[in-house]
Amino acid sequence: MTKQTNWPNLADEGHISETDSISLVDLAGLIDWAGIVLGKTGLENPRHEARLLVSYGLGITIEQTLYDQSRQLAEAEFACVLPLIRRRSDREPLAHITGIREFWSLEFGVGVDCLIPRPDSECIVESALDILRYPKSEAHVLDLGTGSGCLLLSVMHERSYVSGIGVDCSYEAVCRARDNSRRLKLNERANFMVGQWGAALERRFDLILCNPPYARAQEINGLMPEVSCYEPHLALDGGADGLSCYRKIAPQLSRLLIPRGMVCIEVGLGQADSVVRLFSKYGLGLHARRTDLGGVERCLVFVCLSSV
Ligand SMILES: C[S@@+](CC[C@H](N)C(=O)[O-])C[C@H]1O[C@@H](n2cnc3c(N)ncnc32)[C@H](O)[C@@H]1O
Repeated sequence: MTKQTNWPNLADEGHISETDSISLVDLAGLIDWAGIVLGKTGLENPRHEARLLVSYGLGITIEQTLYDQSRQLAEAEFACVLPLIRRRSDREPLAHITGIREFWSLEFGVGVDCLIPRPDSECIVESALDILRYPKSEAHVLDLGTGSGCLLLSVMHERSYVSGIGVDCSYEAVCRARDNSRRLKLNERANFMVGQWGAALERRFDLILCNPPYARAQEINGLMPEVSCYEPHLALDGGADGLSCYRKIAPQLSRLLIPRGMVCIEVGLGQADSVVRLFSKYGLGLHARRTDLGGVERCLVFVCLSSV
């Protein structure tokens, strides 16, 4: 038996424009209600996200939400889910609510301190693994602007002979990357440090990974609210033309690479040719271009032609 209730009612809190009256005593009713609330905020897959948040809030698997739909819920259980739906209806990213994002089939802890890893960036990992495909006794990899550490740690997860350093100017991001290295049991081979790109480093590396901020500054406020309101602008802001970080990084690379060392760097839509021109002035020859899952040229691979 189900009962009609107006509780929980987000309308009173200004999150939605009308009162929802819906059966809220079983799992199916809760997912229906959450899907309706999230749908009103303009999410693309509200029902899917509702199921994910209900599963997370109740501490049950997605399968249980599918097979146990008539399970009666206590009011305390609604109370676990309600704040999650409220946060998501405020367009807080799902990954911030759950604290986890999957990247390269690995789980990374994320939060307001770092960029949420994007599937598009997996093409940097693919390029790096191609370069590191022949087993060696060791290889040293540098990750500039490491954020959550997702690029370096994914590569290290696949290549046991790799050791690496991740640098970020954000202390909080460096702490997050360290946590992730422990979570993935890679902390014995990975070090993370605060710094301005590679300025403080004195050793040379076989391979440099980098996903710098590349959004045009004036466009950031127009991005999805999940990005513009919740992700660190330090991780997004590429200056007036989106290329300012590439200009700072380019002169450092040859000094940080062994002769014929390689760089895999992410670029934004339409930026590839400008970055190729810029890097060629600093002794870096284009080796390959790789597209992301959406067919956008996303990863440029360079080889160091003149190590200084
Ligand atoms: C686009 S995010 C990439 C994060 C992560 N590598 C990824 O792919 O998800 C860029 C990162 O560069 C860092 N960053 C910005 N300016 C920097 C600087 N001057 N020196 C070092 N890191 C910087 C930001 O804090 C941010 O973590």
